[in-house]
Amino acid sequence: MTEIDRLVRENISALTPYSCARDEFSGSDGTFLDANENPFGSLNRYPDPYQRELKEKISVIKGIPASSIFLGNGSDEIIDLCFRIFCKPGSDKAIIFPPTYGMYQVAAEINDVKLVRVPLTDDFQIDTPEAMEALNDRSLKLAIICSPNNPTGNAMKASDIEIIIRNFKGIVLIDEAYCDFSEHKSFKEMTETTGNLIVMQTFSKAMGMAAARIGMAFMNPLLVTYFNKIKPPYNISTINQRAALKCLKRYELVQTRISLILKERERLAGALEKITIIEKVFPSDANFLLVRTADPDRIYNELKDKNIIVRNRNLIIRGCIRITVGTRRENDILLKALRNISL
Ligand SMILES: Cc1ncc(COP(=O)(O)O)c(C=O)c1O
Repeated sequence: MTEIDRLVRENISALTPYSCARDEFSGSDGTFLDANENPFGSLNRYPDPYQRELKEKISVIKGIPASSIFLGNGSDEIIDLCFRIFCKPGSDKAIIFPPTYGMYQVAAEINDVKLVRVPLTDDFQIDTPEAMEALNDRSLKLAIICSPNNPTGNAMKASDIEIIIRNFKGIVLIDEAYCDFSEHKSFKEMTETTGNLIVMQTFSKAMGMAAARIGMAFMNPLLVTYFNKIKPPYNISTINQRAALKCLKRYELVQTRISLILKERERLAGALEKITIIEKVFPSDANFLLVRTADPDRIYNELKDKNIIVRNRNLIIRGCIRITVGTRRENDILLKALRNISL
C-alpha cells in the first residue's frame, strides 16, 4: 500500500466497481451485442466511459499526461467525488477558506463531513498561521483552496498555497476554475510530483462550455483509478464529449475570447469606479468583479426589475455584489442602469 492509497477511505479501497460493457472492449470497430443498446439511431451507443479521445486532446493543450486526467460531470461532480473518496461520513473533516465557492459546503453537508472554516484575511488571502494551526487536526482529510477565489475574484498567494501543500498530509484540492483569466501560474504541473495534490479546472468558464458540464482534474494516475472506480460509469455524454472536442479544435477562438473578456474586465472596472453609488471595485483575477456599495439589496433589486441579473453577495461579504463580465453591449446596459440609480 502506497502513501496515496492510505489517503483513500477503506470501503472505497475495498470496493469492487461496477464493470460496464465498454470496460471489457474499447475498440470502435466490432459487432456490439454486449450492452443491450438499440442497433438503430445515431446516439444509440453508450459513450466512452474514460473519454480517451478527449483526454488526449486536453493532455496536449494542458501539458499533463492523459493518465493524470479525470473528467467529471462539471467540477461539481469532482468536488462531490473528493468528499466520497477521502472523507468518512460522520467522522472525517475538510477545511475551507471562506468566503468561497458555496458548493464545497453543500458537498460536505451531503456527505455528512464536518467543515473547518479558516476565514480569509481582510485582503482576501489565506490566514496561514490560523490555517497551520487548524491543519494539525488529525481528522482533517481534505483541504480545498479556491484560486482565483469565487466570490472575491483574487488569486491566493502562491507561497501560502505551497505552505499548505507542504504541511498537510491529507488531500489538497485547488479549484482553478478561473485560472485562465489570471496571470498567476497554475499548480497543475505540481500534481506530477505531489501525490496528495489535485488541481481542478473546468470547461465552464474560459472555454465557454458551461452547458456541456465538463470539469477536469489533474492528479497522480493512481488517484485517477479511485475516481474511475466510484464515478457513474458513463458520466460524460457522447454529445458533451463531442462538443468539448470541437471547442478544443478551435482553441485560438477560446484564447481570443479570453483576451476580449480581460479587456472588458478592465474597461468595466474603470467605468464602475466612476459611478458614485459604487464604493469599491476589488481587483480581479477572474471573469467577474466584486464591488462594494452602500445598499447592495436595493441595487440588486433595481437591476433585477430591469432584467439585469447580478449576484447579491451581501450576506457573504457585507455590502458586496458580484458582477460577471459580459459582452461590451451587456456591460454598457449594466453601466447605464447603475448610473441611473441614486441611493
Ligand atoms: C470556484 C468554482 N468552481 C467550480 C465551479 C463549477 O464549475 P462546473 O461548471 O465545472 O461545475 C464554479 C462555478 O461557478 C466556481 O465558481
